[in-house]
Amino acid sequence: MRDLVRQKTSLSEEIEKILNDQIKQEAKASATYLSMASWCDQHGFGNSTEFFYKQSGEERDHMLKIFKYVNDVGGKAISPEVTDVPNNFNSLRAIFEQALEQEIANTQSISRIVEQCYKAKDYTTVTFLQWFLKEQVEEEFIARRALELFDVIGEDGVGLYMIDKRIPDIKYQAE
Ligand SMILES: [Fe+2]
Ligand SMILES: [Fe+2]
Repeated sequence: MRDLVRQKTSLSEEIEKILNDQIKQEAKASATYLSMASWCDQHGFGNSTEFFYKQSGEERDHMLKIFKYVNDVGGKAISPEVTDVPNNFNSLRAIFEQALEQEIANTQSISRIVEQCYKAKDYTTVTFLQWFLKEQVEEEFIARRALELFDVIGEDGVGLYMIDKRIPDIKYQAE
């Protein structure tokens, strides 16, 4: 039951809950990218290591953005418990495949939240989430480009070395 101060907020309990779920998902994404950075470091892929450290940081920023928003509009942001973080990977390619899958899942998750916000007539949160939808276009683009390197360059011989070398060149330009 909400007290009076909370009742005056625009955030419904339903939307608050799904935003807290998303906070958790961003935290898990951050932790997963950190695992990937660790694997890349252990296997000598220096640029991929940096790439995943950066991705991990970005996911934490996403988490914080939603976290602060929930509190800003009078809800209660929950510091998430992150479990089942993967720590074993089979190959560099498998990591980049998983990275793309994670981004696609995240895009779908944000879209579902937007849909629920429309149903709940929570246009404030819809507006807040616009940034995330745009961000996901960039995130998916980068993950796809990285994965394409495996087909374009090939993994034989110095292939993996060359793929790692090209990772920092991947840039997204919106217009
Ligand atoms: Fe994210
Ligand atoms: Fe992401």
